[in-house]
Amino acid sequence: MKICIIGSGYVGLVSGACFADVGHNVICVDNNAKKVEQLVQGKVPIYEPGLEELIHRNVAAHRLHFTTSTEEGVDKSDVVFIAVPTPPQPDGSVDLSYIEKVAREISVVLKPGQYRVIVDKSTVPVKTGEKVADTIRRYNKTGADFDVVSNPEFLREGCAVADLMKPDRIVIGSNSERAIALMQKIYEPFMSPVLVTDINSAELIKHAANSFLALKISYINAVARICEASGADVEKVADGIGSDRRIGRNFLNAGIGYGGSCFPKDIAAFIAISEDLGVPFTLLKEVEKINRTQRERFIAKIRESLWVLKDKKIAVWGLTFKPDTDDVRSSVAIDVVRDLLAEGAQVSVYDPKGMEKAVEFKLVDGARLAKSPLDAAEGAEALIVATEWKEFTTVDLSDLMKVMHTPLIFDGRNIMDPNTVRAAGFKYTSIGRS
Ligand code: UDX
Ligand code: UDX
Repeated sequence: MKICIIGSGYVGLVSGACFADVGHNVICVDNNAKKVEQLVQGKVPIYEPGLEELIHRNVAAHRLHFTTSTEEGVDKSDVVFIAVPTPPQPDGSVDLSYIEKVAREISVVLKPGQYRVIVDKSTVPVKTGEKVADTIRRYNKTGADFDVVSNPEFLREGCAVADLMKPDRIVIGSNSERAIALMQKIYEPFMSPVLVTDINSAELIKHAANSFLALKISYINAVARICEASGADVEKVADGIGSDRRIGRNFLNAGIGYGGSCFPKDIAAFIAISEDLGVPFTLLKEVEKINRTQRERFIAKIRESLWVLKDKKIAVWGLTFKPDTDDVRSSVAIDVVRDLLAEGAQVSVYDPKGMEKAVEFKLVDGARLAKSPLDAAEGAEALIVATEWKEFTTVDLSDLMKVMHTPLIFDGRNIMDPNTVRAAGFKYTSIGRS
């Protein structure tokens, strides 16, 4: 199949590379000329395990191309995916201006006699597909033949390639049998379950799925508070409830809350969508509140131990919103660093992949940039684990003890074993475990 992807960011680029890898011919379009130039030269602008190799392999096989021209992409493809950002607005509702702009750009390059399937891969509010179709119809003067499909993406950063290659399900939302048949052909090589729905249901699935996952996290974080108050262990409780197959153990890891470019914005969007439709989803407001206060409670625990944070030397391990990515957007770890800096603490930060972007976006101005976990901990009066990178679990505890001023650890992601750390002489505080 000939495929065009408009928007070569996390979602678009990974999708394009995976489509090419299963044999399709893919053109990735992006309006950022610098990014396209980099990609053409074989430089991959984001870190995602396995992605670079995938891109190089498929570029070499002439199945993956990059351009800034929407016209070229649409002209040479049967199916056009839209994967541009859908950022939040101050009131939580979704900014659909990029989607609308791309719909107009597509409308003016569609030619008569060419049938095209326009697929929305970005996360959008229910009923956006209808608006995309209306926009294309309004701006196209030639009576172009096209259908609009919703095909939401469920990939997680850090394992995006694997999620795309072996998805739990592929959702195809469309009211056109012709479009559905083409979409099924694209996904045939993935050999995964396909769920065909109407377009509105497909759009809703994405927001409902992400909100449910966020709800699971906030649920276990609320349980963690009860564990702390009662002396129970949230990890054991999560294992106990998670081994019921109806519940499942995934997304029951207690911590300082969810972050990233998806959950916070998608939950806010779903709240706004529900209010717009006159059926307010108030449960999700509590999910947000638990998430926000989880970090506040964590900082309060640190304050309780150190009393005044001003001038205290504090090490923070982790800046990315989760491990195995360089993405620092809406990262709770960054919020923690900023909270500490705001109180006048001297913060040293280290992250295996996130340092560059944190500096580039000026997110940790005022913090010392360390070269390793031990370098960050040098002379520290407390160590905070803010992201669950595997690297942090391999640090030798006796080395850590030697470099720290005071052996105090606040583990916001429960990555260490309390007994081991305490046996090594540290005072250790984590989430939902006494
Ligand atoms: C995606 C989805 O599209 C979003 O809806 C979802 O909720 C999260 O994931 P993502 O891939 O993370 O967004 O965004 P980003 O990495 O910012 O990439 C978007 C790309 O689109 C950028 O490379 C940008 O240059 C490009 N772009 C943006 C266009 O090509 N045209 C535009 O008009 C706007
Ligand atoms: C999420 C969805 O999982 C994915 O399906 C969707 O397409 C995009 O949004 P992503 O944001 O990449 O993916 O990461 P995810 O692994 O879901 O983690 C999101 C946040 O939740 C991270 O900050 C993570 O630390 C946190 N989290 C996750 C927890 O706090 N506890 C958990 O048990 C799981």
